[in-house]
Amino acid sequence: MAHFGNYDDFCKDFSWSIAEKELEFDKNRPFNIGWHCSDRICNMGNGSKKALIWEGLGGKKKEYTYNDLRDRSNVIGTFLRSLGVQPEDRVCLFMDKIPELYIGFLGILKIGAIAQPLFSAFGDESLFVRLDNAGTSAIITQRKHVAKVRKIVDRLPNLKHIIIVDHDGKKSIKENEIAFNMDEAPIVSDFHVHPTTADSPSVLHYTSGTTGLPKGVKHVHYSLISQYLTTKWVLDLHDDDIYWCTADPGWVTGTSYGIIGPFSMGVTQCVMDVGFSADAWYNFIQNQHVTVWYSAPTAIRSLMKAGEETVKKYDLSSLRHLASVGEPLNAEAVIWSEKAYGKAFHDTYWQTETGSIMISNFPGMTIKPGSMGKPFPGITAGIVDVKTHEQITEPGRAGLIAFRPGWPAMMREYWKNPSAYESKFVKGWYLPGDRSSIDKDGYFWFIGRDDDVINTGGHLVGPFEIESALLEHPAVAESAVVGKPDPVNMEVVKAFVTVKPGFEPGQDLELQIMNFIRKKLSPLAMPQEIEFIDSLPKTRSGKIMRRILHAREWGEEIGDTSTLEDDE
Ligand code: WTA
Repeated sequence: MAHFGNYDDFCKDFSWSIAEKELEFDKNRPFNIGWHCSDRICNMGNGSKKALIWEGLGGKKKEYTYNDLRDRSNVIGTFLRSLGVQPEDRVCLFMDKIPELYIGFLGILKIGAIAQPLFSAFGDESLFVRLDNAGTSAIITQRKHVAKVRKIVDRLPNLKHIIIVDHDGKKSIKENEIAFNMDEAPIVSDFHVHPTTADSPSVLHYTSGTTGLPKGVKHVHYSLISQYLTTKWVLDLHDDDIYWCTADPGWVTGTSYGIIGPFSMGVTQCVMDVGFSADAWYNFIQNQHVTVWYSAPTAIRSLMKAGEETVKKYDLSSLRHLASVGEPLNAEAVIWSEKAYGKAFHDTYWQTETGSIMISNFPGMTIKPGSMGKPFPGITAGIVDVKTHEQITEPGRAGLIAFRPGWPAMMREYWKNPSAYESKFVKGWYLPGDRSSIDKDGYFWFIGRDDDVINTGGHLVGPFEIESALLEHPAVAESAVVGKPDPVNMEVVKAFVTVKPGFEPGQDLELQIMNFIRKKLSPLAMPQEIEFIDSLPKTRSGKIMRRILHAREWGEEIGDTSTLEDDE
């Protein structure tokens, strides 16, 4: 039996106090996500239950029970405290999907510090801007990534501790670096969880916008209330489930639903730190007996490409519930998954700023393939006019998605950027920056983003960061970056560049520029193509109009450019 039942019944009389009660929340008492995800499960008598099953490259395997999660997160917390890390200090996690990332996250929260997870494929410049903005004081990383940290540490006066989790501390460790072995460090018996409250900061995730540098999205411990309840009702986790969230905790899905949601419910989850291949993924599901699988459209489209023949080689009968997030889940993917796995992927919609699922297809609800589903109970969602921001009530008419603020996992600020935060709220609505319509049955249909952010394979890439990297190359005079269509990743990055006098556009220069920016950016943000053009389309005031280049790539009508110019 699914936890969720009739949609209208669940919306009627909904209150977040349902989750508050289940989690024994008391606003006058400390509330800490790290404690809820480990100690509480042990206190409920489930300490010996498996919490994390991990598989890495070369067949490496590790398992941790909830007792281990509690003990090892205490060990990490104690170690950080011994270095002088204080509550609310930012501690960056810069690692592959290894156990230290998951358990370190809980340890950081337990000492009241702020966890700042960053995708380990980021290049040094992408890493720098995020550590610089956050004023991060410690970073936990691996030998294979420490070179990137070494390159930038001199420009980061606040970064005092570089902790390497897979170093023996002997050869080649530098003065400001410290080796730490999570599995071998002795257990600490007298650990005290910092008495964080509902409003204490917990996680800082960076997300890209159209303009300016990436923004730090600050969440608080109270976010657990909606992360827990959405995990329960939308992902439908039960005590005996084996859950697999394919997202990397460098991104919000990997923390909200790859750490906090499942561990707060005391469920067993498995993690595979091996690159994508259809065979490797199916093998993992088969061997681990995965029951609930939370993934993303790009992966699903890649699995579709591998075909039903590949599916048939494996026993995937353990699968009970499938969900997807991050980009539009096309109707074909939903229909195909139903045919290939006997289960349809349930689309879910949310974003870093919302912290938890906002719109989704609930278990048991009729799926309309291609639709994102309906708002979570307690979420007031609507569509507002793009210009006037007046609510649109007419079914099928497109506008901006809008939410009434006030759900527990809502971001509390953009780090040191109050004006960007305020700009997200208009006429009492929070605007996530996406366009959609609602049909007569209340289902949301995604249309597209309302800004120039590129969503490639479910990862948001801000054009500004790539354009800035391009401009650092001596040959580049101007640059504009847009998304171009791609059958698997939905869109990929394309750069337009004008060159300075004395430089010859062509393949050689393209290669040189690519090599130059590769070191600075993450592989996701790398343009698939650089097109040299004589001049970029601009407004009268000289602003580059990415939208014209975008329309050209997508074969869309450009329309009246004079109004576009006025818009800018
Ligand atoms: C997009 C990821 C269509 C959207 C959790 C959103 C989606 C951005 C969907 C957030 C979906 C997310 N259908 N588009 N089901 N889910 N998006 O912050 O543009 O990395 O604003 O959070 O991804 O991406 P973020």
